[in-house]
Amino acid sequence: MASAEAIRDSVHRDGYAFIAEFHVEHEALEAFESIGKIDVLEGFASVQSLTPKSETSATPNTYSGNYGLGEFPFHTDLAHWSLPPRYVVLRCEVGASSVSTRVLDGACVIDSLGEEFLYRSLVTPRRPTQYGYQLLRVFDKPNQDDGSLLRWDSLYLRAANKAAVKAIDQIAQLIACSTPLEFLLRSRGDTLIVDNWRMLHGRSSIGADSISRNVQRAYLSELK
Ligand SMILES: [Fe+2]
Repeated sequence: MASAEAIRDSVHRDGYAFIAEFHVEHEALEAFESIGKIDVLEGFASVQSLTPKSETSATPNTYSGNYGLGEFPFHTDLAHWSLPPRYVVLRCEVGASSVSTRVLDGACVIDSLGEEFLYRSLVTPRRPTQYGYQLLRVFDKPNQDDGSLLRWDSLYLRAANKAAVKAIDQIAQLIACSTPLEFLLRSRGDTLIVDNWRMLHGRSSIGADSISRNVQRAYLSELK
């Protein structure tokens, strides 16, 4: 069993950690709390239960509502929020051997396009928030001591200046020719922790044999 310290070191070094059958004897909440501090976000349960949904049966303004059982493109979670959650944890409750969760290192995007260019690239949520159409930077350093933040979502974000038009096009090209890491949440407890300020993630399509897949998700504000 990986220790919380070893998990934290992996995530800080690589941007992610995968642990097979993590705390199978416990519920997801306990497993998550052993790794870090749960970030309870407005409108979200502490632990969210994710199941495959067709476009017609899902809430319209969600990934399932847009992509249904098809492939989920690479994104960072809640990229249209002013401060997206730092870490995403996904844990298998009911496994599926033919569905892969994909992870791509955003550091490659920053290395290719440059911090300064991405910092100048302004995007805005597809729909206005309660504060109107807020301007957000594709790359930012929200807190001095807390590292940098890359946000990416081809569904929920729109370009708000010329630099962003170019950045969105170039990021899409980089993603298209990249080779992501792939993880299977196959056995109960299989757990993937992702630094949501650094890594992009996505999901392959859901076949008929994987319709009962169930993944438990939480957001963490810090790792132990
Ligand atoms: Fe996501």
